[in-house]
Amino acid sequence: MRVLVTGGAGFIGSHFAKRLERAGEDVVVLDKLTYSGNPANLDGTGIELVVGDICDSQAVERATEGCEAIVNFAADTHVDRSILGATDFGRTEFVGTQTLLELVRKTGMRYVQVSTDEVYGDLETGGSSRETDPLCPSSPYSVAKAAGDLHIPAYVRTFGVQACITRGSNTYGPNQYPEKLIPLFTTNALDAEPLPLYGDGRQVRDWLYVEDHCAGIEAVLRRGRAGEIYNIGGGHEVENIEVAKGIVELTGADPTLLQHVEDRPGHDRRYSLSCEKAKQELDWEPVVSFADGLAQTVAWYRENRPWWDSIKSGEHYRAYYERQYAERLENAE
Ligand code: TYD
Repeated sequence: MRVLVTGGAGFIGSHFAKRLERAGEDVVVLDKLTYSGNPANLDGTGIELVVGDICDSQAVERATEGCEAIVNFAADTHVDRSILGATDFGRTEFVGTQTLLELVRKTGMRYVQVSTDEVYGDLETGGSSRETDPLCPSSPYSVAKAAGDLHIPAYVRTFGVQACITRGSNTYGPNQYPEKLIPLFTTNALDAEPLPLYGDGRQVRDWLYVEDHCAGIEAVLRRGRAGEIYNIGGGHEVENIEVAKGIVELTGADPTLLQHVEDRPGHDRRYSLSCEKAKQELDWEPVVSFADGLAQTVAWYRENRPWWDSIKSGEHYRAYYERQYAERLENAE
């Protein structure tokens, strides 16, 4: 099968592209190479990389030549950046997804939309989100993801396309751009820089190792039923402060690096996914424990300093870091 992986030079997309290649599939990646897309993530593979935007129908049409499926990872993914300014987020998700689906509709390709548990919103008072739950996004990022998702049932119903949605929980592992909690704290800890924990640090995320996430998406690509949504969660609900302490321990960093800083506006307290449907219908289950996954991830960052040093020393990253953290760290407790 020839498969187009959009956003395939990014974190989860590149792991997925490599996984499909290992399974013997013919993979082509379409990636705009914005700040977090990195051709080095595909080093050592035979995967073809086409540089282009999913909102550009001609670029998409050229990249999908001979393809039987599209798996869409292309997205602006960071909540904090969406709070600083979100214009591009809506365009990539809403216009980009529709551009892909217009082609799917004409060609009959299979389609998987890679989405997030954040579209269900905050579950502070308990319970777990099911695929039938209403969308209740809290941040500009998750609104954009939810808006993209809305196209899928409409195209299935109106045009009969073979499309599914996956909703993954917080994903971590090697090659993640160091702006999300785990890679940011790991690389800061290795550099003896502060670890800026938002608010009381008691927010809960459900952590999913990247290979488990990719296995779930692959199961949906191969066996998902058209029009269905599948939750793909790690089943490891952990408070941020516990994640941070784990990183401090694994890196051997000074625990006083951990600092409570001003909270993220609109911060969701807790996400949780019910994944019974993926287990029953697709026989998918995560297999990597959080302790093993975190240890492997920290080891990867320890051994691959050049990969993240070149990102963190760059102008773009430094400007973002200054904007997001300088004042917070000055006023840290
Ligand atoms: P993040 O990795 O940005 O993922 P998401 O917002 O999609 O859940 O954040 C995970 C959690 O960690 C979230 O509750 C916010 C918190 N966090 C911090 O406390 N400090 C930070 O510097 C970052 C990036 C996140």
